[in-house]
Amino acid sequence: MSVETRGQRLSVTRLRDRKGGDKIVCLTAYTAPIARLLDEAVDLLLVGDSLAMVVYGFESTLPVTLDMMIAHGAAVVRATRKAMIVVDLPFGSYQASPEQAFGAAARVLAETGCAAVKLEGGEEMAETVAFLARRGIPVMGHVGLTPQSVNSLGGYRSRGHGDAERGQIIADGRAIAEAGAFALVIEGVNEKLARELTAAVAVPTIGIGASPACDGQILVTDDMLGVFDEFTPRFVKRYRNLADDIRAAARDYADEVRAGRFPAPEHTYAAPARRAKSS
Ligand code: KIV
Repeated sequence: MSVETRGQRLSVTRLRDRKGGDKIVCLTAYTAPIARLLDEAVDLLLVGDSLAMVVYGFESTLPVTLDMMIAHGAAVVRATRKAMIVVDLPFGSYQASPEQAFGAAARVLAETGCAAVKLEGGEEMAETVAFLARRGIPVMGHVGLTPQSVNSLGGYRSRGHGDAERGQIIADGRAIAEAGAFALVIEGVNEKLARELTAAVAVPTIGIGASPACDGQILVTDDMLGVFDEFTPRFVKRYRNLADDIRAAARDYADEVRAGRFPAPEHTYAAPARRAKSS
């Protein structure tokens, strides 16, 4: 990424200053063509480890590797000019120690050109967030429903039911923000909890299934475009239904190929004109 290009992007410091101001608009992106289409409309694109399910058809985010995140992160950075790009640290690449996290995050920043990394977890990750932040690695936190912990959480249900869980999520968000994260994703909590946590931290909160009480919102792009239509979580609004369009386009193509209507003359290279013989 050139110095010129870097200057046009929303920076981590400008995003942090938007706390309580204009809503911060975020979406996920995993590939260059989609990132290019989204760049103009959003403040931030997250190369989320949700690509495990969305792109690769896995059942959870756990099988994603650091190399996969780096390949997708670099593609999204190359295709965009304006949005801040944040790349998820995948499961197993940062939980063991601050040093392990630094190694993974440094690779992500150096090999993709993105602005920041995101990691999941609360109080137990605060030391790691502080370690990274003090060493020049901007970190976005992620609390509430943390999909990398699906096995210990017992599923993808919303979180914060009951005083103990509510109190823990507030403590988690506070710990990550105070450790130096520049923003905090809050996933799968009710409005009261999102409002309380947003008021409790000095950095912007970005909600997914966490009510309008957050400083910004993020959705998985393929969900809001209706590419997946088997299951739509309650918190997703479908702005388009591309699944129907894609199926219809595939059917039209198949019909035309079978009927011999495609390719038509306008899709076919013409043979070179014969030269007239000179006498
Ligand atoms: O991986 C992801 O896409 C995410 C968002 C849903 C916040 O973490």
